[in-house]
Amino acid sequence: MNKLFTTLFALAVASATGGAFAQASAPAAKPAAAAPKAAAPAGAKSMEAKIAMCIGCHGIKGYQSSFPEVHKVPMISGQTAKYIVAALNAYKNGDRKHPTMRGIAGSLSDADMNDIANFYAAQATKAADSPAAPEGKVAELYAKGNCAACHGKNLSTPIDPSYPKIGGQHADYLFVALKSYKQDNNHAVGRSNGVMGAIAKQFSTAELKALANYVSTLDGELSVHPEPKFR
Ligand code: HEC
Ligand code: HEC
Repeated sequence: MNKLFTTLFALAVASATGGAFAQASAPAAKPAAAAPKAAAPAGAKSMEAKIAMCIGCHGIKGYQSSFPEVHKVPMISGQTAKYIVAALNAYKNGDRKHPTMRGIAGSLSDADMNDIANFYAAQATKAADSPAAPEGKVAELYAKGNCAACHGKNLSTPIDPSYPKIGGQHADYLFVALKSYKQDNNHAVGRSNGVMGAIAKQFSTAELKALANYVSTLDGELSVHPEPKFR
């Protein structure tokens, strides 16, 4: 884990340096773009530097994590800004136990979190107007959990900005996330959130999987947004 983190950090530094070099050696045709950068207060990090550490996982289509089981990393482009900040703080303070994200969030200041959250939130795509209604057994589970009451239409218009958009999120990630709200007493896996904990605990693992599969089929506002210009 430490080695992975060191490698990631090295990558982050390398790509940040690469970005700066590309900027410095860019043809003189675009001087306007460079000017505001030079005027930034000393010590202020560029947006490229702030997200350099994120794009190696969240900016690659289909990128998978193998912990605690193999699943795609969550899409964060298009997610609500307040939720991104809330999630990062939950990793930082230990309410969310995922070790890698804890290490990463712990290195971010409040200002970094806000800037990063606004950057990713601005990448939202428009969700479809009419949700595909759940059918059969899933319709029962969906009604029992009252999912749309908080996550909104298409599960993409949450009633509170600190709640996540989940429509169209990767099914395997949704399943891992839902199970984590049921997990107590494990030092590396679990999320202590009163609201989702109470909901997830009403369902069996198989039922959570069925819900995750359905939620992933909705037309949502989340996407993976590669950042080739930052590499
Ligand atoms: C090594 C790969 C990796 C890197 C690098 C990484 N993440 Fe993550 N991120 C993950 C994984 C895996 C999860 C899911 C963790 C869990 O199960 O709670 C996650 C979860 C998140 C979440 C919660 C998403 C949700 O829907 O609840 C946010 C927000 C997030 N990451 C932001 C970031 C930011 C910002 C950065 C860069 C500063 C970053 N991540 C760097 C792998 C990574
Ligand atoms: C009373 C409001 C409420 C209801 C009802 C609700 N949720 Fe949530 N949900 C939340 C909140 C708040 C969070 C953020 C929790 C956190 O910070 O970890 C959340 C988080 C989630 C996440 C994690 C998202 C991510 O990106 O990691 C999933 C998945 C989820 N909910 C699915 C569901 C499903 C499926 C249902 C219906 C069975 C449901 N929720 C019903 C409020 C609700």
